[in-house]
Amino acid sequence: MTTRHPFGTTPDGRAVSRLVLGGEPGLELHLLDLGATIHRLRVTGADGVRRGVARGHPAAADYVASDAYLGATVGRYANRIRAGRFELDGAAVQVPPNDRGNALHGGPEGFDARVWNVVEATDDTAVLTLTSPDGDQGFPGQVEVTARFVVGTDALDLELTASTDAATVVNLTQHVYLNLDGEGSGTVDDHELQVLASRYVPVDATGIPLDGYAPVDGTPFDLRTPRRVGDVVRQGHEQLVPAQGLDHDLVPDGSGVREVARLRGPVSGTVLTLSTDQPGLQVYTGNFLDGTLPSPSGGRYRQGDGIALEPQLHPDSPNRPALADPVLRPGETYRWRAVWRFGS
Ligand code: GAL
Repeated sequence: MTTRHPFGTTPDGRAVSRLVLGGEPGLELHLLDLGATIHRLRVTGADGVRRGVARGHPAAADYVASDAYLGATVGRYANRIRAGRFELDGAAVQVPPNDRGNALHGGPEGFDARVWNVVEATDDTAVLTLTSPDGDQGFPGQVEVTARFVVGTDALDLELTASTDAATVVNLTQHVYLNLDGEGSGTVDDHELQVLASRYVPVDATGIPLDGYAPVDGTPFDLRTPRRVGDVVRQGHEQLVPAQGLDHDLVPDGSGVREVARLRGPVSGTVLTLSTDQPGLQVYTGNFLDGTLPSPSGGRYRQGDGIALEPQLHPDSPNRPALADPVLRPGETYRWRAVWRFGS
């Protein structure tokens, strides 16, 4: 059986648990029921040293106070909806704007802020569910969400599913920040990043798509061959400067579950291979980590201390039918899958 430990309480008194899945010599995942959050992920590097490769906070209250979504399972609508407004079957829907005038990551009390139900917990598997009631954060329809985490020797496999009792929009993601060289290792500047995408979505200064897709050719978004992250984010490109780095939806080539990205830590030699069935990958280089949010070692996270590779639909899809169809209707099942495989 998975060990389940108390992880304190939220400031409003909700008890939080930490589940431990897997273990040496394979992956070890510490999962919080608060936000179905990847709190810690321990991996043996190519050098034989075990390291925590996922960024987390020390305590439940830190997760509640944080605006960084470290490790959170994000919903009901990951990424941005312009001005929090969209039309659904001819009716106007308004959800609260919580990021530079736009709705971000499901609103002020998104799925990351909820304590999920643990319905199954074994040595290698945890299944968590969440009911998001009709009208939750302004979204129509009662949505039932299930997150199934399975830990193997060298891979973490996550499947997210959702259903609804009325038409709504759903876009979930996992917001784990990776640093393959472990806690206290500084920024991911020296990591090598490869994203198998020949297109990306240019955005305005608030992260909303300008138009449609653009080719990555000749831009900092051409990561089809591995690039050092620190070199990419320091270019003076007009898309990078307002975002202070990469905070963009890349459009991985192909469809179905396919390899979309690779990341290599220079010290550990650990190589992450990310596969997903999602059409978009938001690549976010921790640009807004500003030296205030606490790390488990007692330090603070600064800009670039982790990188989030977030499989999802393209941003603002409720207003961009040409980019993706985010509408979920009764009788349909929303499905999302990602596999993080660690090797060398
Ligand atoms: C990312 C988003 C960033 C920022 C971050 C959380 O997914 O693209 O702009 O909001 O989450 O701090």
